[in-house]
Amino acid sequence: MCGIIGYIGMKEAVPILLGGLKKLEYRGYDSAGIAVLGRGGLAVSKEKGRLSALESRLAASPLEGTLGIGHTRWATHGEPSDLNSHPHLGEQQKIAVVHNGIIENYRQLKEKLVQRGAAFQSETDTEVIAHLAEQFYRGDLKETMIKLSEVLEGSYALGIICADKPEVLGAIKKDSPLIAGLSEHGAFIASDIPAILEHTREVYYLQDREIALLGRDSCEFFDPQGEPLIKEKEEVTWSLDSAEKGGHPHFMFKEILEQGRVLRETIQDSLWKGRNHEVLEGLDIARYRKIVITGCGSAYNAALVGKYVFEELCRVPVEIDIASEFRYRDPIIDASSLVVLISQSGETADTIAALRLAKEKGAATLGIVNVVGSTIAKEAELCLFTSAGPEIAVATTKAFSAQLVLLYIFSVHSAAALGAITKEEAQILGEEIQSLPDKAEEVLSSTGMIQKHAASWVGKKSIFFIGRNIDYAIAAEGSLKLKEISYIHSEAYAGGELKHGTISLIEDNTLVVSIASRKALYPKIMSNTEQVISRGARVLLVGNAEVSGMGDDLVQLSLPRVYELFSPSLSVLVLQLLAYYIAANKGLDIDKPRNLAKSVTVE
Ligand code: AGP
Repeated sequence: MCGIIGYIGMKEAVPILLGGLKKLEYRGYDSAGIAVLGRGGLAVSKEKGRLSALESRLAASPLEGTLGIGHTRWATHGEPSDLNSHPHLGEQQKIAVVHNGIIENYRQLKEKLVQRGAAFQSETDTEVIAHLAEQFYRGDLKETMIKLSEVLEGSYALGIICADKPEVLGAIKKDSPLIAGLSEHGAFIASDIPAILEHTREVYYLQDREIALLGRDSCEFFDPQGEPLIKEKEEVTWSLDSAEKGGHPHFMFKEILEQGRVLRETIQDSLWKGRNHEVLEGLDIARYRKIVITGCGSAYNAALVGKYVFEELCRVPVEIDIASEFRYRDPIIDASSLVVLISQSGETADTIAALRLAKEKGAATLGIVNVVGSTIAKEAELCLFTSAGPEIAVATTKAFSAQLVLLYIFSVHSAAALGAITKEEAQILGEEIQSLPDKAEEVLSSTGMIQKHAASWVGKKSIFFIGRNIDYAIAAEGSLKLKEISYIHSEAYAGGELKHGTISLIEDNTLVVSIASRKALYPKIMSNTEQVISRGARVLLVGNAEVSGMGDDLVQLSLPRVYELFSPSLSVLVLQLLAYYIAANKGLDIDKPRNLAKSVTVE
């Protein structure tokens, strides 16, 4: 989704804004732009395409000034184009605005402005904000932002500068993330920490409708009515290195390789002690008659794994739902329900909406979140944190793995609390969980084999993933990962479901990835595997089922032994690497796949 950076300080704004925008590239974008207020007044430079295109434009026509705003746009209203990219100016060219979010009533607002004679340059909802800001402006940016927040419906994080106010950078947000920070040489706003981490580790998280007015050496905050607000600054504990590629060709590859450490740190913080452990200790699971787990994309796939694990260990039914569907089915939840919301970013609009609806209906809410200061982390009643550190690649890997391990720990903890397993059994399961980081590292140390196979599968038009039970859940994640970054069509099916239609799509040389980690189901999944081989498919078998008589049609990748319910943590590594190497062989932009955004902050 769109990325925002703003700077006011002692240094030239353009290099700082471009540097910040580069750190926000991972959010996904299709155009970029910058507005700077310098001696010559307010100047804008914007360009469709990658940041390098904007850099070339700025090299040819430099902008000077020490106050500016920058933006990477992920198109929502109007195609990606120079004109639709941000910043947008009002009609008098006096106020420039960058925006992340969607203004839901922009048509009505625009109609009124047009009736008054306003002319628009773009098709965006954001240009309406710039026009309105100029209409509301009476010499005070804070008042202007309060008036904007009174009329704008929808979501917004806004950075605003005004030609009349060379000493002020304004910002306000609702339902889209925005932080502020102060360094030795100036003050910043940004959509996310990596954009400003080079300059400061102390950040302020803006809450909905709060206003920030930044000066060259000051950050002032105000509540939605404009009253001064004292905000606590929060220290960023992770380093910029963790947001850099560290010599790897792609962030995704680096993040895949980090998973042993991420699992170890998440487990340390959750299993026997740590802040997550305290949260789990405080959770009276017996109080809830209904458990719902929700999230989007990979987070939903984690929920699917969580359902199998929780139900098998606790013998309590779990409902799962895609967060974007949750609020449209009037879910049957009340004070006796626990709604678990999984999100790496903690800013996914649909998951936030699910959280708010759950709270409205009186349900208890538990977030499983990676970004500590995010909306879900702050608004959920309880929160477990995945210790994945910053995840830059759009395709999630390490955060997903950390979500899985937290779901196992949550399930074991709940099963013990409910008396569904004994203390001794919980201890044994805890030890199994503790063995996962080493086993994950074992899988990750033998990437060569997967790389070799992936090279021969690059030309595939379609790849199927099958599995049963927990292997079906992880098949869904393998298929999503492949689609996202390799642009190869893929479907995930429960092995037994193939014969109900999909098997008609299997033809000579179709690749089927078959996952087999549940011993009791080996005969079933192997029989499904034989069914596709006999129709011409080639199979990659991930898991330890015994194989006989399938010759060259099947290649097997065995995995370290682990308690079966926790096996998705190992099989997913193979599936991530498979997707990665196929996409790498195709020479694709792996970290920023087309049309995708890291954090989907609009509905
Ligand atoms: C995963 O690889 C995707 N990029 C996507 O499905 C993602 O998991 C989804 O958008 C949810 O994001 P969140 O975890 O930040 O809420």
